Amino acid sequence: MKRPLIAVLNGPNLNMLGLRQPEIYGRATLDDVEQVCIQAAERLDIAIDFRQTNIEGELVSWIQECRGRARGIIINPAAYGHTSVALLDALLSVGLPTVEVHISNIHRRESFRHHTYTSQAAIGVICGLGVRGYGLAVQALYDMIEDEDER
Ligand code: DQA
Repeated sequence: MKRPLIAVLNGPNLNMLGLRQPEIYGRATLDDVEQVCIQAAERLDIAIDFRQTNIEGELVSWIQECRGRARGIIINPAAYGHTSVALLDALLSVGLPTVEVHISNIHRRESFRHHTYTSQAAIGVICGLGVRGYGLAVQALYDMIEDEDER
């Protein structure tokens, strides 16, 4: 049987991880984040499609492409999470189990970061656990897919 695919989508400025405000985001780079996801996926024998873009519409298109292709979505929408109804609508339109990840604890930061539109489409949100949050998200989605397949 084909291995289930989980899409890991990253939004704006996450290509700057490692350089960008390390006191908030740490020293890990986006390549390190991808490795965290790949290691979790190998352990669970699933496939990962890991991407990053600075363009909102590209994220919308990537979410739409997940329909019929991926079993779940992990998204760090970055700043677009706080602003984008389009991303929320895209996630709602594909109806796939989604976990939202933020590296930093958005609730300990400026009040404009406390709300995300995208979280309304998410099963759960992981924030403040650094890049290890991505590994936890892969495990959580895997468990949910397994539960669904058993039903
Ligand atoms: C972030 C938190 C957002 O508020 C911010 O705009 C980001 C990164 C995080 O991973 O902690 O770009 O999503």
